[in-house]
Amino acid sequence: METLVKAEGERNVEILSDLNAISREAASLFINASRDSIAAREKFAVAISGGSTPRRLYTLLSSSPCRDQVDWQKVHFFWADERCVPKEDEASNFKIVFDRLLSKVPIPNENIHRIKGEEEPEKAARDYEADIKEFFEASGLPVFDLVLLGMGEDGHTASLFPGSKSLEETARLVAPVYTEKSDQNRVTLTLAVLNNAAQILFLVAGTSKATVLSEILSDGEKKREFPAGRIRPLQGKVIWLIDREAAGRV
Ligand code: 6PG
Repeated sequence: METLVKAEGERNVEILSDLNAISREAASLFINASRDSIAAREKFAVAISGGSTPRRLYTLLSSSPCRDQVDWQKVHFFWADERCVPKEDEASNFKIVFDRLLSKVPIPNENIHRIKGEEEPEKAARDYEADIKEFFEASGLPVFDLVLLGMGEDGHTASLFPGSKSLEETARLVAPVYTEKSDQNRVTLTLAVLNNAAQILFLVAGTSKATVLSEILSDGEKKREFPAGRIRPLQGKVIWLIDREAAGRV
């Protein structure tokens, strides 16, 4: 398997053969990040995403040998975003992760910090923000040890969509969002929180993402039009794991 690593300051881009390779690499990064954080602070706070791309990663993490390499008692799961649907709904990001991973590993219930998609969006956003503040015991911005993100064909990430006013949100950690594209209410972490993470991992696969990805990774002015192009952690690092198809125009 050919792996090409391009280092650019705080950004690494790894081109891998396919989604299986991306998932294996992401699992290994997840395991290492959890070990480092637990060694330093006795806990690992990770915010994860829905979508189709990370599903294999969640399945890998819940199976041997990966599941035996994580101290699940000390892992705290948060979500980068959620759709405003009940937690049993197929569109729920909580359900995606619960079915494949959380229901299969020995993680305490109190370590699962879900966004209550069944609530009215404003309330769900406020409750989630309060949960984050309590967990991090911080009045300012929290520092997630790891944030796992995907990228849509339009360059959205989490539930931050191109042109959305939530992109300019600076006072809140969590924002309610309505997206016309899928006619859906959602709740999302804001750019300020995402860019304050210690490490961000993007998983991107498929030819449909190639054009936008090349705009973002070429670092031209146009990249700011895409929310994913505005993810650049202030003090942490961002790693893009992309497959050959998505890298076609990079
Ligand atoms: C969601 C996500 C979203 C996702 C991208 C990429 O709830 O849908 O959090 O930001 O990561 O849309 O989705 P795919 O992995 O399905 O391409």
